[in-house]
Amino acid sequence: MNIISVNDYTEMSRTAAEIVIGKVKGNPEIILGLATGGTPKGMYDSLIEDHARNHTSYEQVTSFNLDEYIGLKPNDPNSYHFYMNDSLFNHIDINKERTFVPNGTPENTDEECKRYDERIDSLGGIDLQILGIGQNGHIGFNEPGTSFTSGTHVVTLEDSTRQANARYFDSIDDVPTHAMTMGISTIMKSKQILLLISGEEKAETLKRLIDGEITEEFPASILKKHNNVTIIADQKALSGVV
Ligand code: F6R
Repeated sequence: MNIISVNDYTEMSRTAAEIVIGKVKGNPEIILGLATGGTPKGMYDSLIEDHARNHTSYEQVTSFNLDEYIGLKPNDPNSYHFYMNDSLFNHIDINKERTFVPNGTPENTDEECKRYDERIDSLGGIDLQILGIGQNGHIGFNEPGTSFTSGTHVVTLEDSTRQANARYFDSIDDVPTHAMTMGISTIMKSKQILLLISGEEKAETLKRLIDGEITEEFPASILKKHNNVTIIADQKALSGVV
């Protein structure tokens, strides 16, 4: 794992955006894997700013999001579908028909999961996957204990994850209990992975990722087995690593 050390959240976001922009320019038909949450928000802002200023085009780009809450429709302001439209897709020239987010209200969840993986595979796989990380080491919504061989599947969210995400909802009771997420093996099939980590509250997490063993109890640890992972971490996140 290659680590790029940056000063703060702003620099992390700009550095990540520069990498994405370079890849999109190099391959206008790139397939991006995208994340939601607080971490990539600044990167999306930088992509939007660049699109307005330099007209980087996303017309031919395809995207797959990591996850979606079960029970939330795309127009629900707390759905990840809504987040992506609001934080990025509505502000660039991407063709929304090529933006895929797991369907949180499918008739048949198993079939939806299978279809999601099949669609990624049929298009040739994800070229660049953006990841954030939960304090417990989750990537996507793959909580500790998830099998490293998992494909896209439905998960029960840990209380700590629901609490961490409650900031976006009126109350913790409104946070869905289940989500659909790309599996660990889906993520590991990406050709390149960019993991963004910012803030003191992720310092222990980053330390464990770097120093700890590879175990399903800490899902992100599998990234050590991937041959093209870049971590962009700010000083607060790096504060536990000497
Ligand atoms: C979101 C996702 C999650 C987040 C993680 C960190 O699509 O897959 O794994 O990346 O929960 O969330 P933030 O960035 O809000 O700290």
